[in-house]
Parts: sequence; C-alpha cells; structure tokens
Amino acid sequence: MSKIMFVFGTRPEFIKLYPVIMEARSRQHEVVIVNTGQHREMLDNLLAELDVTPDFDLKVMTRQQSLAEILARTVAPLDDVVARVRPDHLFVHGDTSATLSGSLISLYRHVPLSHVEAGLRTYNKHSPFPEEMNRQITGVLADYHFTPTEVTRQNLEREGKDPNRIFVVGNSAIDMLRYTVRPSFRHPVLDELGDRRLILMTVHRRENISELGQMFAAINDIAVRYGDTHKIVYPIHMNPVVRQAADQYLTAPAIEIIEPLGTTDFHNLLSRSHLVMTDSGGIQEEAPSLGKPVLVLRDTTERPEGVAAGTLRLVGTGRDDIVREAVRLLDDPAEYARMAAIQNPYGDGTTAQQIMDVMDKVASDEGKAAAVPAESSLPA
Ligand code: UD1
Ligand code: UDP
Repeated sequence: MSKIMFVFGTRPEFIKLYPVIMEARSRQHEVVIVNTGQHREMLDNLLAELDVTPDFDLKVMTRQQSLAEILARTVAPLDDVVARVRPDHLFVHGDTSATLSGSLISLYRHVPLSHVEAGLRTYNKHSPFPEEMNRQITGVLADYHFTPTEVTRQNLEREGKDPNRIFVVGNSAIDMLRYTVRPSFRHPVLDELGDRRLILMTVHRRENISELGQMFAAINDIAVRYGDTHKIVYPIHMNPVVRQAADQYLTAPAIEIIEPLGTTDFHNLLSRSHLVMTDSGGIQEEAPSLGKPVLVLRDTTERPEGVAAGTLRLVGTGRDDIVREAVRLLDDPAEYARMAAIQNPYGDGTTAQQIMDVMDKVASDEGKAAAVPAESSLPA
C-alpha cells in the first residue's frame, strides 16, 4: 500500500478530489490530506459536510489576497510538510494556486505527481487567469495525467506528453453528482419559488472582476424582465470585491443573494434549475450531465465538450450579449429544448475508480521492478 498525499486549497478541488480520496481509502492506501487553506469558510463548510478532516491545514487565506501572496505563503510550509511526511505519491487537481504549489513541491522533493483534470486548455494565458498557466505548468511537471475526455487527451499528446502516462478517465465531478443528487431533495429555495422557475447563477472569476458592473447589470435587466415567472438565485462567492459589486448592481426583487451552499444543496438546486448563468469551471461540467442549459459568462472556455454537446453557450461578459442570449433562450421553447437535451461528455461516474486502478498498477509495476535486481547487479 502506498502513502498518497492529496494537496488542495479551494472548494472545487476538494469537491472533485473527494471521490478519489474515498476510493484511495477504500483500497487501504495511507491517505494524507493537506489543505493549504487558500479558501476558508467556503471549503471548511464542505469538509464538515463530507466529514473530512485534513491532516494539515496551512491556513494561508487572507482577505483580498494577491496571487503572489498565496503562492509565497503556501510553498515553504508545504515543502516542510512533504519533507516530514515523505509521501510515495502526490495528487493535485485542476488549476489553482494550490495546484501550482503542490506541483512545484513534488518536483523539489522528488515525489511522483498525478494531475487530476489534466489537459484542459484555452491556450490563452490571460483567460482564465491565472488558471490556464497553472495547469500548463502542472502538466509539464506531472508524471501521470488523468484527463477527462478525448479532446483533453489530444491537447496533452500535442504538447508531447508521454501517451503511456495519459489516462482518459472522465471527470470526478460526475462521481460526485452520483453521491449528491436525490429526487427527494427539499430546500427553502425550492419552497419559496412557488410557480416560478429557478435561474441559478454564480460569478467569481478573477479576470472578470473588472467586468462585474456590466455582468451584474445584465443579470439585473433579466430579473426585471422575467421577474414574474422566474427567480434568480445567487449563492455568492466570499470574495469581498464580488460582494460589493453584487450589492450595488443586483437590486431587482427577483434576485436572491444567498451564502455559498454545501455541495449537496448546490448540486440538487442545479438539478432543479431551469437555466444556469455562470463563469465557473466546474459548473460547466456538472450542468451538461444534468441537462441544464448554461450561459457561460466568459470569453473563453477550456470545456469545449459542453459547447459541442449544445448545453453550454459562451456569451462573454458584455451587458447586451448576456441579455440577448438569455432572452433567446427564455422566449424560445424549441431553442431551450435543444440546449437541455441531456448529454454527458464527462464519463460514467467511475473516474475515481479508474484513477486508483492506474495507481494500483503503477505501484505493482514499481514493486516488481524493485524485486528484480538491475541487470548490472546480477551475479555473473
Ligand atoms: C480560486 C481559484 C480559482 C477557482 C476559485 C474557486 C486561484 C488562483 N484561483 O479563486 O481557480 O475557480 O478559487 O472558487 O487559485 N474568500 C473568503 N473565504 C473563502 C474563500 C475566499 O473570504 O472561503 C475571499 C478572500 O477575501 C480571498 C478572496 O475571497 O482573498 C479570493 O479568494 P482566492 O482563493 O484568492 O480566489 P478565488 O476567486 O476564490
Ligand atoms: N458549488 C458549491 N456551492 C456553491 C457554488 C458552487 O458547492 O454555492 C460547487 C459546484 O457544484 C462546483 C464547484 O463548487 O462543483 C465550482 O466551484 P467554483 O465555481 O467556485 O470554482 P471553479 O469550478 O470555477 O474553479
């Protein structure tokens, strides 16, 4: 059995590493969990919800932290933890600052690195920022690339990664939906809807911060226009800059801003929503699997599978563009039905199992290699 370290620091990394952690535990691996603490409330709530207690918490979060600060506050403490624990293997997920820190330390401490959700690309280093470069750098450092789809596999191959180290395993977000979504789910948000349809929104991206005024103005326009028949619910990010802009622009009565939700609540509300408006990455994976049309409030997406499937529409961040696309969808039932056709480009919810199958094989091959003396050391 191996000693496997999982390093993460934000909400989406934990949500999508959770199934892998559970699978590793079920196979009796020694699991060591390091939370960099880049997120605080938004992650602590989920850890409590899923009853996970990290072995280490680096407590790096500060209010309105800069990217340089996060990295600087993470790297040395993480190095210390890895030096003490001496894991056989280190896992990171996605594209955050925690991902980058974990990847760097795996290099410095010579620990084999697995990257989950590898190979997503826009090839635009400013969008999403800084995630595109975090994942490209991690891709360079990783020994094993667990990639969700054929499209993302091809990205990695084009970049010259060893094809024998790339594994198409789907996205563990789908594993998570299998844990969370229940037909019997009840929630006050649903009770208070009455006859109205639910539009679920989230907005948080760093590169969208300067666009928040026009994005929120568009959402307010939509709420005014459709307020009799629809309600927009926004579980808001903890970022104070986002909160301030939301308070200023999202004033229509048909908008309800609520605190960040637990994963079970969020996934179930997503499954009951009529339309989603978001700049999130993970929600672009979850929504197509639930047949929910998404207006992606970004200029680029590294998830073209959902666009090809028809569930995602990349609308940008301009006020007129967002309103026009929402009107098109809400006024045209045929267009809505086309987008809502359920397609799941991200696998069958067995991603964690597939990842740990690979890990077990790697460990067994390494064990066999270690058991056979190298040729030069064989007795003559
Ligand atoms: C980070 C990730 C982003 C991911 C997002 C998920 C990086 C560079 N960015 O962006 O890829 O999409 O998480 O949500 O890693 N805050 C709190 N409490 C919390 C969390 C955040 O108060 O629990 C506030 C703090 O003031 C913090 C700010 O939000 O400074 C921004 O958090 P940060 O992790 O820097 O950026 P995100 O936008 O969350
Ligand atoms: N999510 C959640 N509670 C919320 C909003 C989102 O649990 O209030 C989940 C969502 O289902 C998805 C993930 O958080 O799995 C997305 O996180 P976020 O949008 O913060 O990050 P990104 O995916 O953009 O990196």
